[in-house]
Amino acid sequence: MNLLFFSALDLFPRPAAFSREAAGRAYFVLRISNFKIMLTKSKITADQLYKILKNIKVGGSVCTYSYKKCEEFVPLINEINELKEEKNAVILVHSYVSPEILYGVGDFAGDSYGLSKNAMETKAGIIVFAAVRFMGETAKILNPDKEVLIPGLLDGCTLADSINAKDVRGLRKEFSGYTFVCYVNTSAEVKAECDVCVTSANVYDIVARIPNEKIYFLPDKFMGMNLDAEMKRRGLKKEIRYYHGTCYVHEEYGTEQIFKIRTEYPNAKIVSHPECAPKVCENSDYVGSTSQILKYMKETDAKEFLMLTECGLSSRLEVEFPDKKIVGSCTLCRYMKSNRLEDILRVLKNPLDRDRVVIPESVRRRAHTCLEAMFQYTAKN
Ligand code: 13P
Ligand code: SF4
Repeated sequence: MNLLFFSALDLFPRPAAFSREAAGRAYFVLRISNFKIMLTKSKITADQLYKILKNIKVGGSVCTYSYKKCEEFVPLINEINELKEEKNAVILVHSYVSPEILYGVGDFAGDSYGLSKNAMETKAGIIVFAAVRFMGETAKILNPDKEVLIPGLLDGCTLADSINAKDVRGLRKEFSGYTFVCYVNTSAEVKAECDVCVTSANVYDIVARIPNEKIYFLPDKFMGMNLDAEMKRRGLKKEIRYYHGTCYVHEEYGTEQIFKIRTEYPNAKIVSHPECAPKVCENSDYVGSTSQILKYMKETDAKEFLMLTECGLSSRLEVEFPDKKIVGSCTLCRYMKSNRLEDILRVLKNPLDRDRVVIPESVRRRAHTCLEAMFQYTAKN
């Protein structure tokens, strides 16, 4: 059975004795908010899984769980967990991925920043990254000697796919003198052409610290606009230019949803991701990365939330904070949701070439410098 750590989130303390790698895998404890399930190394049962997943209500039939569905998942979950032990593999799961993966087989769950740190710190020989390709690539850039496997069937992310290395080289010619800051939602080739990588958890603080006033941010247009607004709010003199990419999930949200919910649920807190349009962020009570949003929800006394981000985060809230309620609807990311237990098992058993992340060393080295700059800036706190 797995032990899930909530990376970069600190929802729960992470005592070393509970570390999957440090504990000699003797026993596992899954602690979810106000309930705690003790799981031994023996297999998970449908009862245990259903107890975890039964509170999930948002997102329609893809995201909701019957006892029968849990019975179907359990043999796969147990086989994956056994194989994972046998092969010394670790499974990293983004919070948008389906809950049966997150709670069934995930060793670490979190946002892009937290998961990249988990990837950097793991002692496992194989990393299975249940998320999207650019996150698997980030793990490989940081761990060139490890096997990184991506089980997701749909290879993409509308942001990462909006720009390539040639585009960046052209922009660098046009905007010489600018520091090129790339969002982590970019390919390894794009990172290799940029100066500093950022994630939704650290973009504002890092750009604020970059000594150059001239910043070219790519590829997310909305995050670029939000960044510009935040630098002005902080009274910092920055000339921010940005590319035109968007996330197809977050660009869907508008202020009409916010105003409707504010009328129907006056006490609800509106939370959004910085990939949303500036008008949405300006009208939100909290804006942050997926892990920062979960932390905010844990710490606030509010009981109702409108989540303007992918449904997986709403599912986590329903599992981990059953006394809090999601109002309104959410949207699915087809790329994140293309991760299935069947494919995690398949890549662990018999990976195909397309499941393996391979990055030419010359690209990897330059992309590593860009990621390293992010870790250097965040260490300056
Ligand atoms: P986070 O880093 O906040 O988890 O965001 C990743 C992402 O792809 C959001 O759409
Ligand atoms: Fe990419 Fe948007 Fe999906 Fe995040 S939610 S992985 S930015 S397409």
